Amino acid sequence: MYYEYYGFAEPPFSLTPDPKYLFFSEQHREALDHLVFGVRERKGFIQITGEVGAGKTTLCRAFFNELDDHWLTALVLNPMLSADELIRVILRELRIADTTDRVENFDRLNQFLLAKTREHRDVVLVIDEAQTLTAEMLEQVRLISNLETDNQKLIQIVLLGQPELRDKLESPDLRQLRQRITIRYHLGPLSAAETRRYLEHRMSVAGGRGTPQFGDGAVRAIHGYAGGIPRMINAVADKALLAGFVFKTATITKQLVRLAAQELEGHFE
Ligand SMILES: Nc1ncnc2c1ncn2[C@@H]1O[C@H](COP(=O)(O)OP(=O)(O)OP(=O)(O)O)[C@@H](O)[C@H]1O
Ligand SMILES: [Mg+2]
Repeated sequence: MYYEYYGFAEPPFSLTPDPKYLFFSEQHREALDHLVFGVRERKGFIQITGEVGAGKTTLCRAFFNELDDHWLTALVLNPMLSADELIRVILRELRIADTTDRVENFDRLNQFLLAKTREHRDVVLVIDEAQTLTAEMLEQVRLISNLETDNQKLIQIVLLGQPELRDKLESPDLRQLRQRITIRYHLGPLSAAETRRYLEHRMSVAGGRGTPQFGDGAVRAIHGYAGGIPRMINAVADKALLAGFVFKTATITKQLVRLAAQELEGHFE
């Protein structure tokens, strides 16, 4: 396999959101800081948006790694559910027995959160792909965020999603929810300089020993093709390494990147 040829322990540019590979671009660092600050300061609601493939899910996994045992976490990865199911998934994530009755489930969640607050534990709920939430579900999420004692919110909620989430929250119906969101961050693409460091970082985490190298033209071509979006960078860099292996070269050139990009687009020559 090409990755063994180059001495990697595993493919450096796989498409899974493995936090071990997290590269801190300025924006990924800032986004993580917003998350950690927001929940520690009990800001209630945090919204993180980013383009498709910008690293939201990876970031969320890294965020959980930052939280110590004091925190209880619930992660909803695929919220294409009904509002009834959403609350059940949240209960299951928190290891609370669920029922078929939404009101009862809601009450169980409330009791659980009150008990945890008494134990001085904090709870954070993260909903990934939040752009797929319907208005009814967003309303349900708002009701969950309403759970509070006289002086504090019982749960911190993070909404992670593609830019459509921002548009959705602009709707007049969701004004109440929007007003609660005090922390917002938008994760944009990597710069060309960051793209180089990103490529090197991932190769080093994968066990690389400095070969192959991406030439300057190759980095520019990758950045241009991928628009600075990590998932696209991974896709093209993976194919470029494969091409490098085929040609047994220690330097990935811009020509190889072009070949890789053509292959991704399905133009075989
Ligand atoms: N900062 C980063 N460091 C290392 N790898 C990253 C980073 N950001 C993204 N990636 C990689 O890019 C790919 C896509 O990342 P991820 O799945 O987190 O994006 P996403 O924003 O959640 O995408 P989607 O909009 O489709 O949900 C993954 O392979 C991930 O490992
Ligand atoms: Mg994702």
